[in-house]
Amino acid sequence: MPDETISVIDNRTGRRYEIPIRDGAIGAADLQKITTDGPAAGLMSYDPAFLNTASCRSAITYIDGERGILRYRGYPIEELAQHSTFLDVAYLLIQGELPDATQRDEWVDKITHHTLLHENIKKLIDGFHHDAHPMGVLIGVVGALSTFYPDAKEIGKADSRRLQILRLIAKMPTIAAFAYRHAIGMPYAYPDNDLTYAGNFLNMMWKATELKYRPNAVLEHALDVLLILHADHEQNCSANVMRAVGSAHSDPFSATAAAAAALYGPLHGGANEHVLRMLREVGSVSRVPEYVKRVRSGEMKLMGFGHRVYKNFDPRAKIIKQVADQVLEVTGKSPLLDIATELERVALQDDYFIKHRLYPNVDFYSGIIYLAIGFPVEMFPVLFAIGRTPGWLAQWQEGLLDPEQKIARPRQIYTGPAERHLPGVRAVAGTSAG
Ligand code: CMC
Repeated sequence: MPDETISVIDNRTGRRYEIPIRDGAIGAADLQKITTDGPAAGLMSYDPAFLNTASCRSAITYIDGERGILRYRGYPIEELAQHSTFLDVAYLLIQGELPDATQRDEWVDKITHHTLLHENIKKLIDGFHHDAHPMGVLIGVVGALSTFYPDAKEIGKADSRRLQILRLIAKMPTIAAFAYRHAIGMPYAYPDNDLTYAGNFLNMMWKATELKYRPNAVLEHALDVLLILHADHEQNCSANVMRAVGSAHSDPFSATAAAAAALYGPLHGGANEHVLRMLREVGSVSRVPEYVKRVRSGEMKLMGFGHRVYKNFDPRAKIIKQVADQVLEVTGKSPLLDIATELERVALQDDYFIKHRLYPNVDFYSGIIYLAIGFPVEMFPVLFAIGRTPGWLAQWQEGLLDPEQKIARPRQIYTGPAERHLPGVRAVAGTSAG
């Protein structure tokens, strides 16, 4: 028995139990020994949205929501955003340490040389409607990649896991850009190995007839920073899906497709797209107070505001605001930024938002930057998915290698009817609750 325990008296039976506390948590399975000896099983904990349930041990990302702290493998997000590249951060998340010069060269070289897609994937993308949402295309194509790489099923082999990780990080921008080019009827632009990860993505998005696409350095850097900010966020909805699917030993392409599907939702990675739609709906700075009033009355939520863990500020939102200024200096001012700034100002002074501790989150300003760079709103969640891929893969691998993990299988509290029988059918002896 560890030194720290909690004593529980079950008032139904008068029995007392000692439950061990490890790392500030009690094991939910330990509650099972609390029982009335009746037909029901032992005590369960009920936590439908994992509000206070740790589902794993993790050494990847640390968040302190009260103090607005976000660290990847111990490094503050502010330092990484300022001094690292997205591929360094991807290495850090997956390997646990930043790469040295040799490791970096090898890592970048490998990712650069896995960016191509099998030509049949182009036919798959061609099959989508011209107005198919690129996030739907991304989810479908990433899932389909598992059929192109059957070796991805060898999840127990470190070499295979590493190869799939390289493939996924490398191919996500290519899938995303191809989905966009398909929608606008442009020929697919192939990867350019001379460019950085972010620069090459811009190339695949916008290269037209020029022989060589040269990305704007400020926009390329801004995109790289945004990818860093999105790279991981511990046990968020999509990471939880990635781990749950991974726990069934599905291949990482299938698991990533599932995680991307979770990210697509408007309450998660789809929020940045909805922020832009909302800013357009507000329409002008003068209409902001009226809009905030409608939010207060419960008519709708203010998209890009609020967070399950950050209750004072989202550190990513602070960094993004600075990046927005740099980008808008290049691209010209956006009237939507004025509306967003006013919305933030009004909301932060409003009783409702103060009482509910609602602050701008990462998605509030990221959409304005994406739009200024030239991405259509439908691409916003796709950009989030590209950034989040290393985080998903780090979470997936950590879960697989954790001896305490098993297939994810929550309990439930059954609320349906008691046993009953079809008309004219007699209960089989022994099955009836009587
Ligand atoms: N606008 C207005 N009211 C809000 C908002 C909002 N954006 N967010 C939460 N509330 C209210 C909510 O109605 C509830 O009020 P009450 O207690 O009176 O019923 C209270 O605040 C608590 O909200 P909740 O939905 O129980 O909080 P949660 O922790 O379950 O939800 C959230 C977190 C991010 C889903 C939610 O704040 C939200 O829907 N925000 C808008 C969507 C958004 O911006 N999502 C991006 C999140 S950051 C990127 C990511 O990690 O994916």
